[in-house]
Order: sequence, then structure tokens, then C-alpha cells
Amino acid sequence: MTEPDAQPTARPSTRFDDQWDDEPDTGATEPVSITAYPNGPLLVRGPFEILTPTGKVIPPRRKTVALCRCGVSSLKPFCDGSHKAIGFRTEQEPPAPQPPLS
Ligand code: FES
Repeated sequence: MTEPDAQPTARPSTRFDDQWDDEPDTGATEPVSITAYPNGPLLVRGPFEILTPTGKVIPPRRKTVALCRCGVSSLKPFCDGSHKAIGFRTEQEPPAPQPPLS
């Protein structure tokens, strides 16, 4: 089992977020966004830092990462695709708020 402070030593070739390749760094300031991927990880995009409970930086190695929210990844905090094997399912997204009727 991976200790909380452990950092992945090598980038596995089967990471779930491989399909979200980094775009070239243009140096532009952009906001951080977190997207809950249906039945999968949280995708974090933009300039961010991931810290251990003791404040050590976990190198993300890319601008977009997938964070595990199913709890079974062997690369926590990163998703390793294990959510597919366990059939992880998320709640359906609630409908977007509607504008008030005028
Ligand atoms: S969300 Fe992908 S392994 Fe947990």
C-alpha cells in the first residue's frame, strides 16, 4: 500500500489521464478548474499544486491530472484506471439551476 507521503517513482503507461495530454505551456495565467468526470476521477486543469498532509509537493508532472475519487487507485492521489475494474459509479449530475421566470 502506498504511504500518504510517497510519490510515484515512475509514470505508469496506463494512467487514466493519458488521454488528456498537456497543451503547450503558453505562459498565460489561467484559472484552475476541477471537473468531476462521470463514473471516474476528478480532472484538475491549470496551474495547481498537490500537497501531502505534511506540506510536501507531489509533482503533478503535467498540467492536467486525474485524481482518484473511488478510493482504490494504487497511485493515490492519482487515478490509475482501477475505477473501471470495480464498476465505480457516481451520482447523476443535478440539473443546472434555471433562471427565474420574469
Ligand atoms: S477514480 Fe480512477 S482509480 Fe479511483
